[in-house]
Amino acid sequence: MSDNKRPENMARINTPALGDAFIAEQVEALKKQIGDKKVLLALSGGVDSSVVAALLIKAIGKNLVCVHVNHGLLRKGEPEQVIKVFGEELGATLIYVDAVDRFLDKLAGVSDPETKRKIIGKEFIDVFAEEAKKLEGIEFLAQGTIYPDILESVGVKAHHNVGGLPEDLNFELVEPVKFLYKDEVRVVGKQLGLPDSMVYRQPFPGPGLGVRCVGAITRDRLEALREADAIVREEIGKLPETPWQYFCAIPDIQSTGIRYIDGQGQRYMGWAVVIRAVNTVDAVTATVPEIPFSVLCKMRDRIVKIPGVNRVLWDISEKPVATIEWE
Ligand code: XMP
Repeated sequence: MSDNKRPENMARINTPALGDAFIAEQVEALKKQIGDKKVLLALSGGVDSSVVAALLIKAIGKNLVCVHVNHGLLRKGEPEQVIKVFGEELGATLIYVDAVDRFLDKLAGVSDPETKRKIIGKEFIDVFAEEAKKLEGIEFLAQGTIYPDILESVGVKAHHNVGGLPEDLNFELVEPVKFLYKDEVRVVGKQLGLPDSMVYRQPFPGPGLGVRCVGAITRDRLEALREADAIVREEIGKLPETPWQYFCAIPDIQSTGIRYIDGQGQRYMGWAVVIRAVNTVDAVTATVPEIPFSVLCKMRDRIVKIPGVNRVLWDISEKPVATIEWE
């Protein structure tokens, strides 16, 4: 059997009890594999890396060193949540790297989507490698690889992901959830006590808001996007059935708006925010769910209060012809 094939007799982890059993088994296996050595993990706050972190904290405690790179393209509140959950509540050894300026400076003026992705990916590896080189006595590198990543190693995630890690660091790999499907990772995460907002997070591209701040990223447009995205996640998140993915994009266009100052109408140029919500099984095709008009209006009323925004659009394009993301 290859190292990367899920054992045929492995039960589907679909109940809390099976989640607990997996945790107990993995914690023992991790203790055995790692002993008293140190492990490094790039912790994005996504469900996969968070579950790996929580498992390793149970197994080896402070000998897990988590590095959270804030590249400035995360959603509102994400770096804070990583610090709160892992740094404060779970007591992890957490290195927080504020790399916002570094990423945004590198991205300034770059409008080609593939070039943007490459810059973000390369910069991430560089920042992580720099942090790793500052540390002493690390022998292992943990990764949140899951089974679909192995199965689709030439597919969407592997192609898109930013989380490729430095090859020259020469660590032994620790991949405790590599045979799990996403739903199983969520069961395990829930049993590990991670917050629902982490465990049931919607998919989020590695280059983050970078692929939704269309064209050359500017800080003010990025901030407007981050605020709008938080509003859309909050309002659509209240629906009894939430779509598979819902977020905002902000194209690099401005259109005319009007504002009243001392009763005088003034025309000015502002950005248009696009609301996107899709349902899909495998992200290969996607449909657009109905969103109640009252919810759309509520989001509109909140989004147009964001500085610089004067228009809200609803993207009803299906995949194909459109992709889910705007870039
Ligand atoms: P598209 O836009 O190709 O997206 O229809 C399909 C799914 O993949 C996600 N996506 C990404 N995920 N890195 C990722 O990890 C990326 O660069 C990336 N681009 C798109 C997208 O959010 C959707 O769920």
